[in-house]
Amino acid sequence: MSRDGEKKIAVAVLVSGGGTNLQAILDAEARGELPHAEVKVVVSSRADAYALKRAEAAGVKTVVAERKKCASQEEFEDIIEDAVESVGAKIIVLAGFMSILSERFTSRYPERIVNVHPSLIPKYCGKGFYGLKVHEAVLAAGEKVTGATVHYVNEIPDGGRIIFQQEVEVKEGDTPETLQRRVMEEAEWKLLPRAVELTAERIAAE
Ligand code: GAR
Repeated sequence: MSRDGEKKIAVAVLVSGGGTNLQAILDAEARGELPHAEVKVVVSSRADAYALKRAEAAGVKTVVAERKKCASQEEFEDIIEDAVESVGAKIIVLAGFMSILSERFTSRYPERIVNVHPSLIPKYCGKGFYGLKVHEAVLAAGEKVTGATVHYVNEIPDGGRIIFQQEVEVKEGDTPETLQRRVMEEAEWKLLPRAVELTAERIAAE
């Protein structure tokens, strides 16, 4: 139950890798910073994702949905939807989720799918810009400032309404790895839990 006695909004988190953004949400929840939201299931597009271990450690249900093991995109998305529905999740968070979701899927959850992207959208986003590739491109372009964006997901990759953005300084001698870490620490891990709570608060009031 939330502070005002309302039931919390169930959240599904979709992951593919290390899961540090998932951890940021779980830690915020443990600190009581998500009064309206509760992570109820974690879905991974990779069976070996470390994010699954983080979910298990927090006692959260896990599901693996691997695109290559499915005969079609529909079958892949049906597994994800079943996981979402199994816990009654009303918010879907893409926390380093590296598989594409079709319009058939995204249109079912308008302004209920939250994505974190490691750049200042509209810069360095869309097709081909994910993970370290974003930071490599930022460094190659000689940018002095980068950042992260959390936004709602629609049918356009990285194109939905922006919730929050945070600038992060690019420093002399940065490598893609050091820049990725700074963008996560100073922006992603702060913005994403806040966006989850903001969305849950809005849905709880509906
Ligand atoms: C994060 O930097 C996230 O913003 C990025 O992948 C990383 C996942 O890290 N996502 C994208 O590039 C999506 N386009 P994590 O698994 O440790 O949260």
